[in-house]
This record gives sequence, structure tokens and C-alpha cells, in this order.
Amino acid sequence: MVENKNIIISFKDIKKRFSDNIVYETLNLDIIKSQTTTIFGGSGTGKSVLLKILIGLLKADSGSILFNNQDISKFSERRYLPIRKQIAMLFQGGALFDSINVEENIAYPLKLHFKMTNKEMRRVIAKNLEMVGLPGTEKLMPAELSGGMQKRIGLARALATNPTVMLYDEPTTGLDPINVTLINNLIIRLKEELNLTSIVVTHDMESAFTISDKVAMLWDKKIIFYGSVNDIRDTGNPIVHRFINGISE
Ligand SMILES: Nc1ncnc2c1ncn2[C@@H]1O[C@H](COP(=O)(O)OP(=O)(O)O)[C@@H](O)[C@H]1O
Ligand SMILES: [Mg+2]
Repeated sequence: MVENKNIIISFKDIKKRFSDNIVYETLNLDIIKSQTTTIFGGSGTGKSVLLKILIGLLKADSGSILFNNQDISKFSERRYLPIRKQIAMLFQGGALFDSINVEENIAYPLKLHFKMTNKEMRRVIAKNLEMVGLPGTEKLMPAELSGGMQKRIGLARALATNPTVMLYDEPTTGLDPINVTLINNLIIRLKEELNLTSIVVTHDMESAFTISDKVAMLWDKKIIFYGSVNDIRDTGNPIVHRFINGISE
């Protein structure tokens, strides 16, 4: 693949199965620094599993994952901790702790990764809430927030540790069109303002076309297409073509 020196993450020959359910036969994918790469594909093709393997929540059966040229795939749980500070993830649904308020939710990763005074922590929390367009919501409980707001608070929490890579699992799924646009714009703006490398997993092709520098299609246990948004519009690959048109019709 081209642009070698700009590759920040590289999945190499990843195999993964759950008993007799083979998820990846041999998966290869490079992620370019400071770009947004969107991985799309049908339900159950292994999009979420790929993000979980990257942050060490699941282990690949074989293959390697290079992060800044270091193979992290065999790291112990202890060695993964600093990696999760650099690679943050917005889980599907936002995944807030619903028994604690917004401020305490965002404080959670800060306490895990940093030694900060309460004053400093409040400043970081306020800054991150500002960044996602929800200033002053510190004392609200997750149940008081709409689905779109919960996602944005989840994003503020993921950003709190100053990651260099953001993973988004289905960030627009289940949202109304206004919130879809809002989240898409946030993903674009964060990339530009924080120089973030982003990996987005989605089956929403409209979003994929809007936010991505690169798109990759996961199908039949491997990546069957990788290229720019323009490349994919012109693709002669019938599977990719059918998927794109089937979804947006
Ligand atoms: N922890 C798990 N244990 C067993 N099977 C799993 C687990 N996580 C995912 N799978 C299976 O792996 C496949 C890929 O799942 P997933 O990555 O969640 O799909 P999606 O592309 O919809 O995000 C599915 O067949 C799913 O049932
Ligand atoms: Mg999924």
C-alpha cells in the first residue's frame, strides 16, 4: 500500500473465529494517520469485533496489529492500559454509566489515567463538554439526556484522555437526521481541530461518504475494498456497488 510512512495502525493477517463461526479468514488493513477511515459492511460481518481487537477487549487468533510500528496484539492487560489512553472508543449507544452524572462519567477515564486535582479535572471536563457543544451539562443524569446528547457526552468522555486515535462504533445509528448531521460534523471537526486519526464503523453509507477520507468494506471474512470515497463511487466491484446502492435506495 502507498503512503507507508503515514500509516499509524496496521492490521496484518488477522484471523478470528468464535468456535465454528469464522469472523476473519485473513484480514489486512492499514489506517493512515490524521485521516478518517470508515469500515462498512453488513450486520454481523465483524466490524465491532475489529475495534474490540484493536483496543485489546478481544484477542485475534493470529496475526498482528501494529500501532506506531509496535505490535500490540499480544500485549497483556497491563500493557494495554496506556494504549487505551491513546486509542479511545465511542461505544455503540454512548455506553454511559447511568447511575452517575455527566461530570462523574467524564471524570472516570481521567481518574484512571491521570493524577489531577479536582479543580484541574473540572476544567478538563468543562473543556470537553464545550467541544461537543454541551457546555454546562455537568450535573445532568444520563436518563435526562436524549440519545443524541448521550452520544456526545460519550464522545466528551472518550476525548478526555487526549487520544490520538478515536474509534466510533455506529455513531449515527438510531439517531434522527438532525443528530446524524451533528455527529457527522463533530467527527469532521474533531479530526481537523485535534488532528485525530479516526476509525468509524457503520452501515450508514450517507455518513460514510460525508465524513471519510478512506473507506473499507468488510465482506466475506475479509476487506474486499479499500480506497477513497471517489474510488468507491466508481468501483466496478459488484458486491460493493450493490451494497452501496441497496442501502441508500
Ligand atoms: N464475544 C463474542 N462471542 C461470540 N461471538 C461473537 C462475540 N462478539 C461477536 N461475535 C460474533 O462475531 C460476528 C461479528 O460480530 P460483530 O463484529 O459484532 O458484527 P458487526 O459487523 O455487526 O459489528 C457475529 O457473528 C457475532 O455474532
Ligand atoms: Mg457492530
